Amino acid sequence: MLVAPSVLSADFGNLERDVQRICDAGCDLVHVDVMDGHFVPNLTIGPVVVSAIAAAATKPLDIHLMVENNTFFVELFAPLKPEFISFHLEEEKHPHRLIQKIRSLGIRPAIVLNPHTRPETLEYLLEDLDMVLVMSVNPGFGGQHFIPNAVEKIKRLKILRDAINPDCLIEIDGGVNENNIIMLRDAGVDICVSGSYLFNHTNIQHAIDTLRV
Ligand code: DX5
Ligand code: ZN
Repeated sequence: MLVAPSVLSADFGNLERDVQRICDAGCDLVHVDVMDGHFVPNLTIGPVVVSAIAAAATKPLDIHLMVENNTFFVELFAPLKPEFISFHLEEEKHPHRLIQKIRSLGIRPAIVLNPHTRPETLEYLLEDLDMVLVMSVNPGFGGQHFIPNAVEKIKRLKILRDAINPDCLIEIDGGVNENNIIMLRDAGVDICVSGSYLFNHTNIQHAIDTLRV
């Protein structure tokens, strides 16, 4: 299991320290939640702060867009050369076109599914994707409870993924902790995002290790 700590739960007064701390603790990706106050009822960070995160990070960035006008934000963040940019299927009229655009910028494209979105909607997109991110909370905030039916969704997505594009990774985001990580691994998750569980832990290195199952 790869581990992508969500910086949303970091101490923003000590952002550089917290980003270095998760990287030194051996995380695989640094998950960055970009919210615009329109697609989700919360507003987080823009290019100035994401640049500062990129400068502090020694691990690749995994940028999760929760915005309207995805193309604008893809162009904004492309110069930071993140490993992944993921956008919500629910907010994109032309997902296939945007996938091509992200890839043309040298970034690995990913799609995010909200809790209500069926995995089968990806049937004709999976072959072009490097990752699918399944939301196990409603996007917008850290520290929410895990929605249990995400497990069944992961299992259905894994069947499709194995048939269409076995190289495409499956990521989970929301309410992930040491109590549900084994179940998620067994369902087919390759990468877990975790925010409040990791950053509220007294020993973040140990907390990351508990997710590496
Ligand atoms: C929610 C974000 C998540 C969030 C996860 O919209 O996409 O990345 O930070 O936080 P926890 O792990 O606390 O649910
Ligand atoms: Zn996220």
